[in-house]
Amino acid sequence: MKTLAVISRKGGAGKTTLSVNLAITAHLAGLKTMLADIDPQRSASDVLRARNGDGPALAEITAGKLFSAKVQAQQAGLDLMVIDTPAAPETDGLQAVNSADLCVLVCRPTFLDIASAVRSAEAVRRLGRKGVIVLSQAPPRRNNAEPSVVLKAAEALRFTGMPLATVGIRARAAFQQSIAHGRSVCEWEPGSPAAEEITRLWDQIAPMLMGREVVPDLTAQAVQR
Ligand SMILES: Nc1ncnc2c1ncn2[C@@H]1O[C@H](COP(=O)(O)OP(=O)(O)O)[C@@H](O)[C@H]1O
Ligand SMILES: [Mg+2]
Repeated sequence: MKTLAVISRKGGAGKTTLSVNLAITAHLAGLKTMLADIDPQRSASDVLRARNGDGPALAEITAGKLFSAKVQAQQAGLDLMVIDTPAAPETDGLQAVNSADLCVLVCRPTFLDIASAVRSAEAVRRLGRKGVIVLSQAPPRRNNAEPSVVLKAAEALRFTGMPLATVGIRARAAFQQSIAHGRSVCEWEPGSPAAEEITRLWDQIAPMLMGREVVPDLTAQAVQR
């Protein structure tokens, strides 16, 4: 079983939105998937409960129960555990990092998010874990041009030393609407730009998670789409 931790010390970065979308995408791709919600706000749990049991399994637990939940999930033959983490306390996020094969560090293209991401990336590195940064709620391209705020964020994030996924998640209404119905954007609006982003992001991070990636230096590349 592989474990993916979705992290950011910033509230509102998009952790829950991404966790839920990735967990459902993996489930629909045929992986036996569990979403471990260690955030006491239980936002991811609220979303998955709206599905009435159709979709990824759900574990509403504290960070302290992660280890035993992983053992149980492994024994139950699960393929993937996605952990949705709280912004605080930091120790809970670090416990998720410690148990992850891959950490997805969610970061909006803003000064405060980037400053926080630099510290989180350092913590992931210190704990010897693998990580990838995903830009979240980025403004969409205009006239096929990448907004300068995204280019600047990509440049600043190079200093984390952590690769940046070339697929960024844009600020799109579909991410808010779908989640209100317990659905991923791929189920809600198949073929939409939002659905395409999640599909392409999953295609990029799944090989990293499985340890099969051919490592490109993604940091130097601008985010696509
Ligand atoms: N890509 C996106 N586009 C538009 N709204 C988003 C996107 N990602 C998250 N949001 C919205 O931003 C808010 C915070 O997102 P959430 O996933 O709960 O963040 P976190 O779990 O990091 O606190 C929610 O209202 C959510 O609907
Ligand atoms: Mg959340």
